[in-house]
Amino acid sequence: MQAISKPGDVVVVDVLDQSFILTCDKDKKINAFYNVCSHRGAKLCKANGNKKRLNCPYHNWSYNLKGNLVGAPFFDRDNFNKKDHGLKPVRVEVRFGIIWLNMDNNAPGLLDSLHGGPTEMLDYPWEEMDLVGRANYTPRCNWKILAENFVEWYHIPAVHPGLDRFSKPHHHVDNQGDGKYVGFVTNPLTPTGTVTDLAGNWNLSPGQEELAAKAPFQFDPRNTAFFYHIFPNVSITIYPHSTYTLIMLPTNDPMRTVEKLSFLQHPGCRLAGEADETFTEKRQAVYDFVKEVNAEDVEICEGVAKGVLQNSYRGGMFSPEHEWTTYRFQNLVADVMTSVPQRPGRVQTGAGWDFSAMNIHLGTAMNDSAPLQHALA
Ligand code: FES
Ligand SMILES: [Fe+2]
Repeated sequence: MQAISKPGDVVVVDVLDQSFILTCDKDKKINAFYNVCSHRGAKLCKANGNKKRLNCPYHNWSYNLKGNLVGAPFFDRDNFNKKDHGLKPVRVEVRFGIIWLNMDNNAPGLLDSLHGGPTEMLDYPWEEMDLVGRANYTPRCNWKILAENFVEWYHIPAVHPGLDRFSKPHHHVDNQGDGKYVGFVTNPLTPTGTVTDLAGNWNLSPGQEELAAKAPFQFDPRNTAFFYHIFPNVSITIYPHSTYTLIMLPTNDPMRTVEKLSFLQHPGCRLAGEADETFTEKRQAVYDFVKEVNAEDVEICEGVAKGVLQNSYRGGMFSPEHEWTTYRFQNLVADVMTSVPQRPGRVQTGAGWDFSAMNIHLGTAMNDSAPLQHALA
């Protein structure tokens, strides 16, 4: 959300066939609108920028950053009131350093949908974080395959040899509540002698002690990594010394997702007296490591996207210990797609699963247009 922090900042977000405009108005309030002119429906904004007004390229109607129509050339007439022709707002919430949009005015708010969920994230000092770097990816797979991959740790030894050195599969522990998210931790993290270790390299990120104190289970924040996949399409990782978020945006191409990675670090993680150059190099090294892990995930997910389309593949079976999280994600997708409020296995974690029921919901892994026939079974 640091992309939109100054008055006048405007950001365009396209998701499937919908386009949205985010604005930061003069009161520093963030607003969201459908990116369509109220006159004849032209796409209002094409590019990000810093602007005083949103000017329509078709007939020059203009809107202020609160979405009010302020200019309509040659339209002075009795039966026309500018107040009635403002931009259509979209529900917007700012949480966890991320701007969340919801097109459904009747849906529960983000926190309600999390059922008091990972409340330990609420007190994390998101507003104080430095945006160290941002990277965009365009993986050739749909967003669900990326989400299913993020939430499981079974693949770590094969796909991420570097990550496997400090985030061991058998150190992954449930951190799950009854909300629309998937939560788990690595506890303890294993020292590697590199910049990913807290000891000797960084101060514990401010806010971590409080974060751990609020967790449903108690973890030592100095050697714990927290992972949350907030349904539907946002993954958040909190290491003792840094944080990164992944936002997965579907596109009109079912074999293409736009994925945005943001790497953040609190300035308080810097060791006292550390030289600028050393600090910058270490920061970059952790960021490079995070990008390397994500590139490995993208590559494997692109292969899965092709694999699940093979005629011979009809779904498999999950490992309850290592992949209950993916099963849970698929159930969350199935709940939404079928309007079934409580699908089996929605709340349980690894120990609570009925192993015989843990077949892969092939439909959820496939393209968005694919029917959810397995999930419906
Ligand atoms: S469509 Fe925007 S001014 Fe006409
Ligand atoms: Fe991975």
